[in-house]
Amino acid sequence: MTARIPVLTIDGPSGSGKGTVARRVAERLGWHLLDSGALYRLVALASRATGLESMDEAGHAVCAATLDVRFSSRPDGEEQIWLAGQDVTAAIRTERAGDDASRVAVMPAVRSALLERQRAFAQSPGLVADGRDMGTVIFPEAEVKIFLTATPEERARRRHKQLKDKGLDVSLAALSREIAERDRRDSSRAVAPLVPASDALILDSTVMPIEEVVDQVLSVMRQRVG
Ligand code: C5P
Repeated sequence: MTARIPVLTIDGPSGSGKGTVARRVAERLGWHLLDSGALYRLVALASRATGLESMDEAGHAVCAATLDVRFSSRPDGEEQIWLAGQDVTAAIRTERAGDDASRVAVMPAVRSALLERQRAFAQSPGLVADGRDMGTVIFPEAEVKIFLTATPEERARRRHKQLKDKGLDVSLAALSREIAERDRRDSSRAVAPLVPASDALILDSTVMPIEEVVDQVLSVMRQRVG
C-alpha cells in the first residue's frame, strides 16, 4: 500500500495573502507547493495566444489539457514559469491575466481538464495547495484546510501597494472595483465556487501580520499532523 501524502490547502479570495502564506509554509515544512491560480492564468494566456475572444469552452479546455508548462527557480530563489518554452513569469501576474483567468475558470470543461494535473502535485513529503477550490474539490481529503480572508478594502490596498512597488500607477478605486467583480465571479460560478470547505479553519488576515498567519497555520498543522 502506498502511504498517503499529507496535504494542506489554503483557499481564499485575491489579496487575502494566501499566496505568500502558502509559499512560506511550504518552505518551512520543506513541502511542495501548488499555485493553482497560476495554472488558470496560464490557460488564459495560452488561449489568448490562439485567439481568446473567438474561442469556445471546448477550445479553452484543449488549451488546459495540453498546457506545456514548466516551473523552475532563478539563482536568487525566485520562481520562474515557462509556457511552451517562453518565460511568462511576469506576463501571468498582470491584472489582465488575473481577469482573463477568472473568465476561463468559470468553465467546467477547463476545470476538469486541470483536475488530475493539480492532484499530481501531491508528492512526498507533502503538499501545500493554494487556490479557490483546493479544500472543496481538488483535495477534499486534505489533512488541514485553511480559508484565508481579509476585508475587500484591505485586499485592494495590498494589491495597490504591490503594483506601486513595481512602479505601476493604478487607481485604488479602479482596483477596488476589479477586485469586487472578480470576487463576485469567483463566488457565484456554478462549478467550484469560492466558498470555505465545511471543515476549513477560517482565518482573517485584515489586521494580522503575514508572519503571524504563517505561525498560526504551522501550529494548526502540528496539532493535526504531528
Ligand atoms: O489566485 P489567482 O489570483 O492567481 O487566481 C486567478 C484566478 O484563477 C482567480 O480569480 C480564479 O478565478 C481562478 N482560480 C480558480 N480556482 C483556483 C485558483 C484560481 O478558479 N483553484
